[in-house]
Formats: sequence, structure tokens, C-alpha cells
Amino acid sequence: MVDVVILGAGSGGYACALRAAQLGLTVTLVEADRLGGTCLHVGCIPTKALLHAAEVADAARESEQYGVRATLDGIDPDRVVAYADGVVNKLHKGLTGLIKSRGITVVQGAGRLTGPREVTVDGTVYRGDHVVLATGSEPRLLPGIEVDGERILTSDHALRPERLPGSAIVLGGGVIGCEFASLWRSFGVEVTIVEALSRLVAGEDEASSAALQRAFRKRGIDVRTGAAVEGAKATDTGVEVTLAGGDTLTSDVLLVAVGRGPRTAGLGYEEQGVAMERGFVLTDERCATNVEGVWAVGDITPGLQLAHRGFQQGILVAEHIAGLAPRPIDERGIPRVTYSRPEVASVGLTEAQAVEEYGADAVQTLVYDLAGNGRSQIRKTQGSVKLVRRLEGEGAGPVVGIHLVGDGVGELIGEAQLIYGWEAHPDDVAPLVHAHPTQHEALGEAHLALAGKPLHAHS
Ligand code: NAI
Repeated sequence: MVDVVILGAGSGGYACALRAAQLGLTVTLVEADRLGGTCLHVGCIPTKALLHAAEVADAARESEQYGVRATLDGIDPDRVVAYADGVVNKLHKGLTGLIKSRGITVVQGAGRLTGPREVTVDGTVYRGDHVVLATGSEPRLLPGIEVDGERILTSDHALRPERLPGSAIVLGGGVIGCEFASLWRSFGVEVTIVEALSRLVAGEDEASSAALQRAFRKRGIDVRTGAAVEGAKATDTGVEVTLAGGDTLTSDVLLVAVGRGPRTAGLGYEEQGVAMERGFVLTDERCATNVEGVWAVGDITPGLQLAHRGFQQGILVAEHIAGLAPRPIDERGIPRVTYSRPEVASVGLTEAQAVEEYGADAVQTLVYDLAGNGRSQIRKTQGSVKLVRRLEGEGAGPVVGIHLVGDGVGELIGEAQLIYGWEAHPDDVAPLVHAHPTQHEALGEAHLALAGKPLHAHS
């Protein structure tokens, strides 16, 4: 009997284990595959490594613009994958060592919830005062589209290309679709994105979607919005995709990126009375389920499927179990970054959400164009900073949303989230000195402008 048994060692599960052990609790961590889960092995880390390789390819291809003579001779998929594997392996080794050094017991195998406070792995029962469910997510598939891993792929396959396709159709213009479209394009692939909704990254502010779409088109990516895929089949030479309305598209490969579903089926959750909805585990704001002693974190809980949300939920649960009183997570304060070229990053409310919540009269927005930002000009990127503010009377009111588009802007989200998280008013940010020349200055100048004292704007 231990204090906590955790089922799944992805971002949510292992963060919970580390924090629980730090708080003096005894922990058993059950993992069917490798420590680190989706994010470390087939998600955030390897995809961002591929996207970095894509950036290097773009830099070589575009070097002439900077007076540097370099040529892009080609992409070696094996070596790109080896580079990404190198990053993953190093982090995996570090994580394995850390978990060991905290005295956490790792059980290798597929576990099932077999009682409110017990998990069974290969016939052995592990009991804990608390059980934390953290079994993560997997790619969603569409009925009638058979993923074969060669012509019709999920992101798991696209991460490990034996050779690069000449052309690709990306089904779904969400985060995964846009990141793969971006990196494939950088590697010279002809890319078409097919998205059923009217815009890419539909969870983002409309202005960000429009800017991304423009930039993608300029990069030669064929973006088809308002186009639903109805079917797809592998052919001898590639794949044929049917759209609603009957049009067909062909390409070498198809990437299916229509979301990720919770991995909760057949794990005993329902049998033990855990409340579920559409496969997700329902929790309160402490991440506690309806069953006493059973908690749930990460992608199996409804909400943003992001590693950093999982980390925070894992930490939160460990602290509750240890008897602390952690602050609930503000889901809107969770930063979102799409690491495409250009990047899209945001925190807080979109303009539309703010208008819906506070009314149009109580919402003010400001767009600062990166054309006025020296560092962005140096790196030849276009984009913008958009601030959404809730007005509380004349000249007062906090910034409730920050939306960024442009190469490198993902790194600005740290400052943006502090502004949002501390409910800063433009007047609070305006006096803060931003280093010159940085892209952070764009955030500073946007707040100066919103505080009524724009520095570089024409009057
Ligand atoms: P998503 O839910 O973000 O996007 C899927 C898109 O597919 C939607 O826009 C949907 O309208 C479209 N779609 C669905 N069926 C369609 C059809 N038949 N025809 C045309 N379009 C169709 O899911 P995605 O991109 O697969 O990502 C899954 C999860 O992984 C997301 O929750 C995301 O947050 C997370 N993720 C986050 C990353 C990041 O933060 N940088 C990177 C990659 C994934």
C-alpha cells in the first residue's frame, strides 16, 4: 500500500509523481510504454525538433536575402529523425534518472483500475490511498478512412518519415495540421490543407487565423477552408481524398489530424463508477473525480490537450493529496502556441469571447504591427500583437487576451501570460522597460499604445 498509485507516466502523471514524492508521499507510477508519454515521445518534443530542422532548411534556402551564399542541397529524413531522437533520448534519460532519484517505484505494464483504490498490472494488484488516472490521448480517426501508416498517416507516422513525400494533403487545419503543413512545406513538399471550418486554428482569435492563412498561402501552401473530407483511400500511386460535394484531391500521402481522443476505453474507469462523458473523465476544479480517492489529470479530462496543462494538473493533485490548498487552474490563463512558420501564440480571451462575455461596449482592442518592431524586421518576419482589454470605466481595465502572430513570437507568450495572469492594466505594463531590439518590445509598445501614449505610431 502506497499513498498514491498513478496510472500513466506522461506529462500529467509524471509531474504528479515528482511533486507527490517531493511532498514526502510514497508513489507507484504505472506505465505501459516509455516514461514521458505522448509529449516526450510522439508529440511536443519530436515535432518541435522537426520544426527546428525546418527552420534551418528555410534559413539555408533564404540565405541570399541576408547576403549569405548558402544552398539547400536537400533534406536527409534519416538524419532529421536521428537528430529528433537524440533530443528525445537525452530528455528521456534525464526524466528516468529524476524519477528514480525521487524514490518513485515504476511499474512497467498496462494497468487497469480494478477497485476505487487499486490498479492491476499483469495480475499484480497495486493499492494506494489515492489513484490518479493519467492515461492520455491518441489520434482520432475518421470512419471509412483506414490509416495504413504508409499512404494514410497520423502524426505518429509522419514523425518518422523514411522518405519525404512529394505532395501531402493535411486533413484538419488545427494545431497538428498546421505544424506538419508548415514543416513539410519547409522541406519542399507540396502541401494542401483541407479544413471543414471556415478558418485554420479555429480556437484562436479570428485575426490570428487570417494572418496564418495569408502567410501559409504566401509560402505556397494550398489552404482549403470550409471543405470537409468525406473519404479517402490509398491507391497504387498515392491517396485519393473525396470532399463533401464530390470533388477529389490526390497526393502522395494524407495526414489525418482531426483531433486527439482520450485513452480511457477498457481501463475499468466506468466499471468503478467514475463519471465520464464522451470518453473523457469528469472532474471538479481540484481534478477529483466523483469517486472518493480517484483523481484525473491531462488529456483524459475535457479541455485543452496541452502538456503544460497536464503538468500543472499533476502538481495540483499531488498538493491536494498532501493536504495543501493549491490555487485552482485558470484554464484561460494556459498559454497556447502553434509552432508553425509563422508561429501563433495566445493567452486569455479572443476578441469574440470577450465581446460575448462583457458586451461590445466594454471591450477595447489594439493591434500592433510587427512592421514597427526592429527585431522582427531584422529577422524579416511579419505579424502582429493584438491586445484585448476589458474596459472598466474611462481609461481603466485589465488586458484579458493577448494574441501574437509572427516568427519567434511563441517565446513572447511568457511575458504575455504574466500580464494576463496578474490582471495587468496597460498602465501597469507601459512603464516597464523592454530591451531593445527585441520582439518583446512589440508587447511593450502595444501596451504603451493602449495606455494612450504610443511611442512609434504616427499621430
Ligand atoms: P484540432 O482539434 O486542433 O483540429 C482538428 C481540425 O480538424 C479541426 O479544425 C476540425 O474542424 C478539422 N476536421 C475534423 N474533421 C474534418 C473533416 N472531415 N474534414 C475537414 N476537416 C476536419 O486537433 P489536432 O490538430 O489533431 O490536435 C489535437 C490536439 O493536440 C489538440 O488539442 C492540440 O491542442 C494538441 N496539440 C498541441 C500542439 C501545440 O500546442 N503546439 C501541437 C500539436 C497538438
